[in-house]
Amino acid sequence: MTTFKEQLEQPGELGQLRSHDSPEDNLQKTLEMPIILSTQGLTRRFDKFVAVDSLDIFVKQGEVFGLLGPNGAGKSTVIKMLTTLLPLTAGKAMLAGYDVTHQAGVVRRVFGYVPQALSADGYLTGYENLLIFAKLYDIPRRRRERCIREILAFMGLLDVRDRLVRNYSGGMIRKLEIAQSILHEPQILFLDEPTVGLDPIARAQVWQLVQQLRAEFGTTIFLTTHFLEEADNLCDRVTIMQRGREVITGIPQELKASLEQANATLDDVFIHYTGDQLTSGVSYRETARTRRNAQRLG
Ligand SMILES: Nc1ncnc2c1ncn2[C@@H]1O[C@H](COP(=O)(O)OP(=O)(O)O)[C@@H](O)[C@H]1O
Ligand SMILES: [Mg+2]
Repeated sequence: MTTFKEQLEQPGELGQLRSHDSPEDNLQKTLEMPIILSTQGLTRRFDKFVAVDSLDIFVKQGEVFGLLGPNGAGKSTVIKMLTTLLPLTAGKAMLAGYDVTHQAGVVRRVFGYVPQALSADGYLTGYENLLIFAKLYDIPRRRRERCIREILAFMGLLDVRDRLVRNYSGGMIRKLEIAQSILHEPQILFLDEPTVGLDPIARAQVWQLVQQLRAEFGTTIFLTTHFLEEADNLCDRVTIMQRGREVITGIPQELKASLEQANATLDDVFIHYTGDQLTSGVSYRETARTRRNAQRLG
């Protein structure tokens, strides 16, 4: 029998042990973990418009949690509040035991964040982009090189480290952005629409990376997407929202099973609980922005 500590020292073996667990076992283990993120009545108004309306959600440590909904639902606004970029209009949010409003400084050390818009500098190399973040995160000079090298290797970007990012493919840029955001080994990683504008292969790579992060580092993942089906396989639990409000929360399998409809999808779940088509309510501005990002990434 190897001890747990020994297993940890042999990540390869731990990976093997974990792969014997069924998805149900993994989910069960995750749901027994403590809560790392919670919101109560989380609300954000822009003048009279309510972008996020009294949202109550929680996320367990080590969970892959998906905040789903059509464009304009309020997903990015939720992430911006949780990451201290946007003040709450009302309600409360706790991250790793700290209050997002009153302890913003500590909270900022706990998470990594990959925004929906591009965040890597195309006129720098991959290595230079990472170096900037390593300095931002106060990673001591003597550890920086090793840290950057390890993360480039983990992402499969070592070969292109000295190439200008503007010559990267969309998938490579996304990976670099994720690398930037985890240099300081955050407990929780926020990914806002991580696959928008990516081709199917790059998308699959991003999803694989998310799973790897959770399996190897136990990182809690909080992601948003308007591709409900994509979230189905990846997320332990999801909250579907529309027009700022929670529509329903649950384990994808159970949500689909609740419809009593053969081969139901999460899109069907959305339509069932909202009576709405998924594409409604998409503003021109949102669409234009998504396209613009897609072009720049693609
Ligand atoms: N700074 C802002 N000022 C005014 N309205 C905003 C602002 N940011 C977002 N909104 C509006 O809030 C709603 C939710 O936006 P967002 O959170 O970006 O949605 P999602 O990320 O789900 O597509 C949209 O109708 C959007 O136009
Ligand atoms: Mg958004």
